[in-house]
Amino acid sequence: MAKTHITLKVNGKPVEALVEPRTLLIHFLREDLNLTGPHIGCDTSHCGACTVDLDGKSVKSCTVFAVQADGADILTIEGMADASGALHVLQEAFRENHGLQCGFCTPGMITRAYRLLQENPNPSESEIRHGISGNLCRCTGYQNIVKAIRAAAERMNGVKEAAA
Ligand code: FES
Ligand code: FES
Repeated sequence: MAKTHITLKVNGKPVEALVEPRTLLIHFLREDLNLTGPHIGCDTSHCGACTVDLDGKSVKSCTVFAVQADGADILTIEGMADASGALHVLQEAFRENHGLQCGFCTPGMITRAYRLLQENPNPSESEIRHGISGNLCRCTGYQNIVKAIRAAAERMNGVKEAAA
């Protein structure tokens, strides 16, 4: 099948590739770029395990063709830690608040939570629950995920206030 040339930015790095038009973004990320943080958890676009940030929006990367990401700026869980390897505040908060058990949903959940906090830096519990409603977790019962996102929001807001 003829391939299409795409250029995009993934986790801050320029990427160029030839992809088949039928290739899904999740497969391109996992198989071509070896970014296996975003997971595949369903065949129905329901689970959210494949969530990545695409041009400032959370997307389920199993619902996007790689060719549609031409020119896009993508963030995956692999891009959340800083260059020194220090975890993102959200990653630390999930660790400290036991926001994960098996961890399968966690990359998508944290990537979604990242965008949620960009859109709403001080969400209430119900806003968090609504904000992550596209991401399923079969283990935790969500309680500690919500707690972790709240804790991250407080820490991020505290950092902003201290800098102001
Ligand atoms: S793999 Fe389940 S929503 Fe994408
Ligand atoms: S921690 Fe297992 S699916 Fe969420």
